[in-house]
Amino acid sequence: MSQEDIFKKLVAHCKEYGYVFQSSEIYDGLGAVYDYGQNGVELKNNIKKYWWDSMVLLHENVVGIDSAIFMHPIIWKASGHVDAFNDPLIDNKDSKKRYRADVLIEEQLAKFEEKMIKEVAKAQKRFGDSFDEKQFRETNPRVLANQQKWDDLHERFSKALNDSNLEELKQIIIDQEIACPISGSRNWTDVRQFNLMFATEMGSTADGALKVYLRPETAQGIFVNYLNVQKTGRMKLPFGIAQIGKAFRNEIVARQFIFRMREFEQMEMQFFVKPGTELDWFNKWKETRMSWHRALGFGDDNYRFHEHEKLAHYANAAVDVEYKFPFGFKEVEGIHSRTDFDLSQHQEFSGKKIQYFDPEEGKSYVPFVVETSIGVDRMFLQVMAASYCEEEVTSSNGKVDTRVVLKLPAQLAPIKLAVMPLVKKDGLPEKAREIIDDLKFDFKCQYDEKDSIGKRYRRMDAIGTPFCVTVDHQTLEDQTVTIRFRDSMEQDRVAISELKGIVSDQIGFKKLFANLA
Ligand code: GAP
Repeated sequence: MSQEDIFKKLVAHCKEYGYVFQSSEIYDGLGAVYDYGQNGVELKNNIKKYWWDSMVLLHENVVGIDSAIFMHPIIWKASGHVDAFNDPLIDNKDSKKRYRADVLIEEQLAKFEEKMIKEVAKAQKRFGDSFDEKQFRETNPRVLANQQKWDDLHERFSKALNDSNLEELKQIIIDQEIACPISGSRNWTDVRQFNLMFATEMGSTADGALKVYLRPETAQGIFVNYLNVQKTGRMKLPFGIAQIGKAFRNEIVARQFIFRMREFEQMEMQFFVKPGTELDWFNKWKETRMSWHRALGFGDDNYRFHEHEKLAHYANAAVDVEYKFPFGFKEVEGIHSRTDFDLSQHQEFSGKKIQYFDPEEGKSYVPFVVETSIGVDRMFLQVMAASYCEEEVTSSNGKVDTRVVLKLPAQLAPIKLAVMPLVKKDGLPEKAREIIDDLKFDFKCQYDEKDSIGKRYRRMDAIGTPFCVTVDHQTLEDQTVTIRFRDSMEQDRVAISELKGIVSDQIGFKKLFANLA
């Protein structure tokens, strides 16, 4: 099955099992806006908890805040978003479709990369264990030719981005013969900038209402509260402020389901440090964040760092954590060394002194900032893509069929335990309810009595429930149940009194945190 087909199945699965719905679906939907269903909201909350606890529980010097979505409009002038939060757009004149010029070029780069990966995979198959990938990449003419094309394009593209040279971006698209995926034509308009912020009006006065923006990132809410938190929390450098909240961007190319949305959620942490120490902290957070991703056990090879083509004018280092989605390696998280740009800008625009008095140095300065920024929804998609499996299984009567299973880490699974009476009579439903009543204070349980046990197991596999227990007639006699494990499908007979311990052992974040750098 192609990666594209797998992705389509994943999207359908998200809807069928109550994870993600198109927003306003009964009115034919609203582009790039999504709602989370009964299972989706639980998974999302668990992802947020995994992040929040890893920041504010594990780090004594990281605290949280929850700032408002609406902020004074001058904040966005100071941060540079009013003037420079733009995407370079290009339209195809035949299909009338709009694209991001930088994304079209990135996709072209990915094609060269894909060709090299295919050559390597073919050779690996041919030579088996004796295959030396490094030597092959350095000598194979087809790989070398594609590498050269990649290097040339990459250099030209980076320069065009750094110079904000829109004509050059268009020229690259023409020279690379990039065609519109819809019309297939190369009939392009010029590239122009488009601001991504949504604006609205607040209040109504005789002089007119105030134009306010829906925040395009949560970070500015942290910067403008730096002094409040530092003073009231008596925080000493280095320290961090973490926040989870909604952000809004009028994305033009809103594709790939919840990968790029117009309303989404971010988990951001700004770490304030002494000037001159920021690159050490940048490297520390880079490693910490990568280990947070890898601790989930989806395979280390599926993650990589991607250095930015273009450093924002205020940054002195920036890297993305990328995951291998079915549509290729893509950004999940950004780690940026933002220097003292934001705090200095707010100091200038507000006219208020935003500094830290360093008792060791005996002087005040504007702290430097290292930021970690991850999208909740993008992380959600990453977890779903990594967990979705189709497996061939053989039942006891020898029949082979396919089971769809979400191999979610137990810590993130929406429902931890399903409790199923074997039949809907003889006191078994009552016993099942009794078990749930006892365990529901500890974790999310679900009662299920409809259909055969086999069908119920499959339903829970598809939702990603790590444990199912079946209550049968023996349960009434000896207080034991059959517990079935999602991934191995193995079954065990255990005492009801053991259930809490078995499940709790697997769903706590402590095990994941033990792996963090
Ligand atoms: N404060 C820095 C900042 O906002 P960013 O790279 O623009 O940096 C950070 O965004 C993260 O937010 C991204 O890595 C991604 O996970 C998520 N994100 C950004 N735009 C998004 C969108 N339109 N839809 C979903 N997630 C998005």
